Amino acid sequence: MKNLKEKLFLTIDEINERIITIRRDLHAHPELSGQEEHTKYLVKGILEVSGYQIKESNKHFGLIADLMVDENAKTVAIRADMDALPIQEQTGKPYASREKGIMHACGHDSHTAIALGTAIAIAAHKEELPGNLRFIFQPSEESKEGGSVEMIEEGALEGVSAIFGLHAYPYLNSGEIGYKYGVMMASADVFSIEIFGKSAHGARPHEGVDAILVTSMIVNSLNHIVSRMIDPLHPAVISLGTIEGGKASNIICDHVLLKGTVRTINEEIRNNIPQMMEASIEGISKSMGAKYKFDYEFGQPELINHEKIVNIIVDEAEKIIGKEKCIDLIDPVMGGEDFSEYLKLVPGAFFRLGTCDEEKKTCVPQHNSRFDVDDDALQVGMKIMGASALQFLIQSNSLHKKEHDA
Ligand code: NI
Repeated sequence: MKNLKEKLFLTIDEINERIITIRRDLHAHPELSGQEEHTKYLVKGILEVSGYQIKESNKHFGLIADLMVDENAKTVAIRADMDALPIQEQTGKPYASREKGIMHACGHDSHTAIALGTAIAIAAHKEELPGNLRFIFQPSEESKEGGSVEMIEEGALEGVSAIFGLHAYPYLNSGEIGYKYGVMMASADVFSIEIFGKSAHGARPHEGVDAILVTSMIVNSLNHIVSRMIDPLHPAVISLGTIEGGKASNIICDHVLLKGTVRTINEEIRNNIPQMMEASIEGISKSMGAKYKFDYEFGQPELINHEKIVNIIVDEAEKIIGKEKCIDLIDPVMGGEDFSEYLKLVPGAFFRLGTCDEEKKTCVPQHNSRFDVDDDALQVGMKIMGASALQFLIQSNSLHKKEHDA
């Protein structure tokens, strides 16, 4: 007799071609953050046929799909993001984007397809499930605010005991996965600084306050915060991305606007950085007779994986793809990911799904016009996702039984 996971894998093998077709359809019809309408209706139609109860929002195109088998059993969630990026695709593949200037350059098409495939395959074995499943199809991961907060506010995590997520990863070969204990990705904050000086004739600088000179000193000093005020054992990044100011070559500039981002993997350091920045900005502005406005916006927190859930993923993945194909990523990356918001509230873990295959030209980095995922990675993703979710339910069920027996 086959066990539940073996049956699940057979179903995944059966639906694999269909999931590849869906992935390519999504790839050909990418939608930007907040505009995932076609994607949502495609997902919704398939899930309804599979017997899921769908909860929609009237504010965005995200949806929550539940497969409830026992009210007293635990519920495990799987999350996929659905949005694309404002990039003109240059892969030249037959299923390349048909939308001008929009493409799935981060692989969210594969995340959506994998979650859909996992949902279909699990629903095919509904009678034997050890607990309940929830699929969270999330919009706007690429937006500054991130779509996860809104999903959570609308109840995406209500009744959920654990959550799983994955991301396509061109730095690992197709057929491999990457896992990471503890902090996996950085927090991502944004800030803006305005410097107000006083204009004057370029030939009479002493009559004005030069906002460009003040800004140049601030830029310099902000770049010293990480190198001289933060413990070198704790990575942090302060990057300025834009600078705007000035009207003419012979006028002392009276206004400059700067925008940038801050990344950290340590909450205490993250909380201290705005004060460090403001102290510099304030001191320099004051000494030069300029005024300033400083806005700091906390974005997604750092992404911290929970050990027990990483263990489940690694155990299941080793059985499916072999130990040598499960790579411990060791170092965190300074990129952000709004899956971190879910992990602040429930135990869970995020893992990397290798999608690189040189022959298929799928080793290009994300957010690049030639990015694509290897479709052979989809079934690896579905199997590890499905088996891990089931394993969590099996474990928590046997715990539940033990408590009852005791
Ligand atoms: Ni992404």
